[in-house]
Amino acid sequence: MDRWVGRVALVTGASVGIGAAICRKLVECGLVVVGCARNVEKIRKLGEGLESAKGKLHAYQCDLSKEEEILTLFEWIKSNVGGVDVCINNAGFGDYGTLLGPEATVSAWKSMLDVNVIALCLCTKEAVNSMRERGVDDGQIIHISSLSGHRVPISPGNHFYSATKFCVRSLTEGHRQELRDLKTNIRVAAISPGFVATDFFVNALHSTSSNAESVTDLFSTMKPIDPVDVADSVVYILSTPPHVQVHDILMRPTQQKT
Ligand SMILES: NC(=O)c1ccc[n+]([C@@H]2O[C@H](COP(=O)([O-])OP(=O)(O)OC[C@H]3O[C@@H](n4cnc5c(N)ncnc54)[C@H](OP(=O)(O)O)[C@@H]3O)[C@@H](O)[C@H]2O)c1
Repeated sequence: MDRWVGRVALVTGASVGIGAAICRKLVECGLVVVGCARNVEKIRKLGEGLESAKGKLHAYQCDLSKEEEILTLFEWIKSNVGGVDVCINNAGFGDYGTLLGPEATVSAWKSMLDVNVIALCLCTKEAVNSMRERGVDDGQIIHISSLSGHRVPISPGNHFYSATKFCVRSLTEGHRQELRDLKTNIRVAAISPGFVATDFFVNALHSTSSNAESVTDLFSTMKPIDPVDVADSVVYILSTPPHVQVHDILMRPTQQKT
């Protein structure tokens, strides 16, 4: 990880869960991390706990469903820390609902597409532009995808979410091909986890207490992946030598059958 010390990483969805774990790990490795999300206070608090670490965490408020806010984020990065060397597209969510039932709404589909797909595309485009205008040839893009981008889950409420992650899988290969066409050594990778112990499922099920109980029940049947395990995969990808391109890491809890 020595070559990344002092370099700049953008982590989206940094306020909680997997994104917060990735921020912590990268700051401990000595990177200058810009963590963004809507709940910026949580990122500030995370940064305060990392003041004695090798790197630094900058907290930035951004609603990734808004194009202008993403563009302003990249301007802020350029003016304040120089540019992006590593871009971790982690922000994402599921909005539980079937495809054909009454809860299937265009606004829910559009919201998931905005964050899980469009923001990921725009951040990647801006990050690659930032790398190329500064002559950075060894940058890294990482998309946090999902096992639901590799198989359609049996659970019907996740079908649209799953479709957004199939998009991410396709975009990972599209990004890889276009980076080769640009004759750059910038790399792109994805990480596709199964169940991770975060608030993701409670949020997807709209946080009611009975839903929270069903998530607790789910996790009582298996030991889920810890967000730190995903952060360790980010460090693995960054640690590989520049001639090695990791494409996609699929990881599930040992006890997860689906
Ligand atoms: N947990 C799992 O089992 C699991 C499995 C496979 C893949 N994943 C993927 O892993 C990624 C992280 O999920 P997680 O489990 O850590 O979920 P989480 O705990 O719910 O965190 C989601 C993050 O995304 C951010 N976010 C959501 N909408 C946003 C918006 N409009 N603008 C800015 N930030 C936004 C949230 O920040 P704010 O609310 O503060 O804006 C939060 O930081 C997602 O892409 C998810 O699809 C999770």
